[in-house]
Amino acid sequence: MKIVNVVGARPNFMKIAPLMRQMKKHKKIKPILVHTGQHYDYEMSKIFFKDLGIPNPDIHLGVGSGLHGEQTGQVMIKLEKVLLKEKPDLVLVVGDVNSTMAATLTATKLHIPVAHVESGLRSFDRTMPEEINRLVTDSVADFLFTPSPDGNVNLAKEGVDKKKVFLVGDIMIDSLFYNLKKARKSNILKKLGLKKKGYALLTLHRPSNVDAKENFGNIIDALEKISKKLPIVFPAHPRTVKMIEELGLKKRFTKNKNILLLKPQGYLDFVNLMMNAKFVMTDSGGIQEETTVLDIPCLTLRNTTERPITITRGSNVLVHTNTKKIIDEANKILKGKVKRSKLISYWDGKTAEKIVSILLKSKLGKK
Ligand code: UD1
Repeated sequence: MKIVNVVGARPNFMKIAPLMRQMKKHKKIKPILVHTGQHYDYEMSKIFFKDLGIPNPDIHLGVGSGLHGEQTGQVMIKLEKVLLKEKPDLVLVVGDVNSTMAATLTATKLHIPVAHVESGLRSFDRTMPEEINRLVTDSVADFLFTPSPDGNVNLAKEGVDKKKVFLVGDIMIDSLFYNLKKARKSNILKKLGLKKKGYALLTLHRPSNVDAKENFGNIIDALEKISKKLPIVFPAHPRTVKMIEELGLKKRFTKNKNILLLKPQGYLDFVNLMMNAKFVMTDSGGIQEETTVLDIPCLTLRNTTERPITITRGSNVLVHTNTKKIIDEANKILKGKVKRSKLISYWDGKTAEKIVSILLKSKLGKK
């Protein structure tokens, strides 16, 4: 069974690592790893291959940045050539980035079955590029692997055939469990002069937050208040760094010694920063899940989440981009009023194993 696995952007790498490891255990499977190159900086890509032990990509498409149409189109043009040559039995995609959708469309048009890992998540906000990527991918994929039951409910409502849908748990958590011991050994706190539980951790990169001056301004107002009580560690995404410059917000960061603006961090250092933070503020999808499993309070700087289980069972609270709400919830945590996580049984670190076993039992590759 020849499987072309497609990755492109940072949040794809922790999802593909356990799958590649699992596929390599089975002689019947020949995995090929394709990197689209959507993310290309060392800190956004290469370091994750090192930290997570992902084999070097077999094929690199070198697509890079661009507008949505351009980026999606480039992946399709370049991947089509690869798929025509390799003739795989399956294309496996993860998550919801532009590369995920582009690879799905390319494969489907060539009548190659597609497996989507992290299927069924919906924010119901179609202004998010990721929501469109999720909808398109799920509407044509052949194997839909969901991380939580809400995913199955969403897919059923969209009329997806139940036989194609498998609740397998959250693949991100496979990577988290597998690397926890190594992450504990990171010396990042020492390097940054931080104390355990003595700082808040922040990530921010959604276009709706960082490309819009009003929303970004509201968030910074809150950060300034919170940073008077404890330092904020902020590994900033390249998009965010660019927008800080373009929107003329640089001074608000440089003059505040209690906000530590850093480069994006590698996986192991970032997990260490997460597990030792007093709380986390983020607009990322995956971090909502990781903080839930680590039982670290998480304030999500968005109006919606496609991961509602992190609210109903986890430590996550939606604070929108509302300055007062962000400050109030941060103060609650600082006063010890913390929302604790409950166990999510199917987030057991065995998601990759379940996926590979389903693929092996399928008709794929048995022509
Ligand atoms: C992408 C994904 C998003 C994911 C995020 C995680 C889409 C639509 N969005 O958003 O779902 O949560 O990755 O990081 O696919 N850039 C660099 N260096 C890099 C990568 C990007 O400088 O290595 C710059 C680009 O020039 C671009 C900007 O960052 O201007 C955005 O990159 P892009 O891939 O379009 O989307 P992200 O915002 O990273």
